[in-house]
Amino acid sequence: MMTAPIGVFDSGYGGLTVLKEIKNRLPDYDFIYLGDNARTPYGSRSFDTVYEYTLQSLKWLFSKGCPLIIVACNTASAKALRTIQQKYLPYYDSKKRVLGVIRPTAEIIGNYSKSKKIGILGTKGTVKSDSYIIEIKKFFPEIEIIQHACPMWVPLVENNEYNSDGADYFIKKDLDILLNDEPQIDTVLLACTHYPLLINKIKEFLPENIQVISQGKIVADSLSEYLERHLDIKEKCSKNGQLQFYTTDSTEDFDQHSKTFFGVEINSKHVDLQE
Ligand code: DGL
Repeated sequence: MMTAPIGVFDSGYGGLTVLKEIKNRLPDYDFIYLGDNARTPYGSRSFDTVYEYTLQSLKWLFSKGCPLIIVACNTASAKALRTIQQKYLPYYDSKKRVLGVIRPTAEIIGNYSKSKKIGILGTKGTVKSDSYIIEIKKFFPEIEIIQHACPMWVPLVENNEYNSDGADYFIKKDLDILLNDEPQIDTVLLACTHYPLLINKIKEFLPENIQVISQGKIVADSLSEYLERHLDIKEKCSKNGQLQFYTTDSTEDFDQHSKTFFGVEINSKHVDLQE
């Protein structure tokens, strides 16, 4: 049986926060990470553009043999995943699988809240898609979801400004808007894979009784359970404990930046998706 790594895709660096948790949870598996850094951010782009970019990226990962791909980007999960699962995969190769980050989070997030009011912070694209509202309602119809888009947060992280006074200003401003909307919120979900880098600041500006949840561990647990339930996919995944990193932009920038997201040194390779 031919085996190959699990693909992990993000618009840029953010998915590394998810891969880090997946790698901790499933250390024996091989992974190929693709960051579309040349075209990031996806958060403010149209549905068609995010779909096109995501599809190109997933096609490339499939060309590397990946039997399963995790779309570790909320924006791409919100805007492109369903169409790829329903309209592309059945014709391309019905044995391949693509999973996102919204569904596994929606399945569990309601358990965190006592007040039944959850704040969701994400990019404009994720918020506008209402994907979280739609998915969470399926599992927790009693939960009220209050969404707020934080368009400045990804650029702050991407530009290494996430510890600056400027970051403080925007984080406080966005959290104030969220809590003014609904002061009873007791759980805030970081529905963007970049935001875990801001978690300490976010906690600083929120009252102590509000818990802040990031997705990495949730997605990692869900993937692990998925592999146990789908042994046909599991047996196609290679297990040498190896990691490969690809970026559509400069590898120098990627290697330098990604340490903050992933914790350890990375040696990436360049790929041009538009060849
Ligand atoms: N990391 C992406 C997400 O989880 C957002 C970054 C972007 O806008 O490209 O939504």
